[in-house]
Amino acid sequence: MQEGFHGSDIEAVAARYGIDEKEIISFSSNVNPLGLSKAFRTQAAAVLDCITGYPERDYASLRKALSSYTGVSPSHIIPGNGSTELISGFAKCFENCRALIVAPAYSEYVRSVCLAGGTVSFFELEEKENFEFDAQKLAAAIDDETDIVIICNPVNPTSTALSNTELEKILQKAGDCGAVVLVDETYVEFCDMDRFSCAALTEKYDDLFVIRSMSKFFSCPGLRVGYAMTKNEKLIKKLESLRDPWSVSSFSEKAAVILLSDSEHIRASAGYIDEERRRVCALLDELEGFGLKYYRPCANFVLCRIDNEKKSATGLFEFCIKRKLMIRDCTGYGSLDGRFFRFCFMDEKSDDLLISAIREYLAE
Ligand SMILES: Cc1ncc(COP(=O)(O)O)c(C=O)c1O
Repeated sequence: MQEGFHGSDIEAVAARYGIDEKEIISFSSNVNPLGLSKAFRTQAAAVLDCITGYPERDYASLRKALSSYTGVSPSHIIPGNGSTELISGFAKCFENCRALIVAPAYSEYVRSVCLAGGTVSFFELEEKENFEFDAQKLAAAIDDETDIVIICNPVNPTSTALSNTELEKILQKAGDCGAVVLVDETYVEFCDMDRFSCAALTEKYDDLFVIRSMSKFFSCPGLRVGYAMTKNEKLIKKLESLRDPWSVSSFSEKAAVILLSDSEHIRASAGYIDEERRRVCALLDELEGFGLKYYRPCANFVLCRIDNEKKSATGLFEFCIKRKLMIRDCTGYGSLDGRFFRFCFMDEKSDDLLISAIREYLAE
């Protein structure tokens, strides 16, 4: 299947299938189904005038808001134009490096490392281990040749996660080998944060660089705001020296501060996903008899496998898109073959529609 038609590009899918984009329910974008915070909707107009000026050069207000949200010192926080800018910025700091990437993985890591002249090797999470992390094995794969280690936690696309206590084993080994560890926590707010977020570890480990995106949890991918957390002064200086000033717009800066202050929406979002994840998993359990396996999800999406030779993820994608439901066909996503697909949790009604469509496809 051509790039973009597997559920990663809604415009391409809408054009190809002749569907109005607005009518498609996207189960592939992994965006919070509760949408934008109400506080933001009411306050946004009042900050519009800020675009007549440049953003703060050092983003002091945004860093302060991010500091109260994360508990990390403002001087250890670097805002970026989405986490994407910070992933590529990080890679540029390690020109011609050797990167060890936990796979299957979000494709931007490989692209960024290769664009910066680096080489990549993979640490594969294994299907026979239900894509669960084995911290000991991962630590053993790091050696003196490794410059950087990249871990998406929880992992896109498997939705499995590494606890912060297990991560410490990896940080210790990386420290011994002189490697820097990037942890991409784009989906961590949908998980049990106390167990899985390693933001607090940035105060303990110098060679830890944690990235977060506001796109998914705050339902604002168009705003383009992400941030990095590290106490590594050398890395902060290098990153700042390599990138353009004002990469986060003055509106995005103000919007992010408002979004971060809406603790009610933040609590409601985490609570909703926690419940909906349980509810959908119970429905998926019922599909086992139809040849569907899924991997225990920690985040707001789930990876599934179809165990029926006559069926495929691409077939399911085609079946669902005719019903205006867009899943992510994971065929060719790293080492994943034509049996794998991923979908995120939406509102109950939409999720029920999707589960019925999956059941119908597997049973037909
Ligand atoms: C794991 C992961 N990291 C980063 C990003 C990019 O996020 P942003 O919108 O902040 O650039 C995505 C987007 O899908 C993602 O899945």
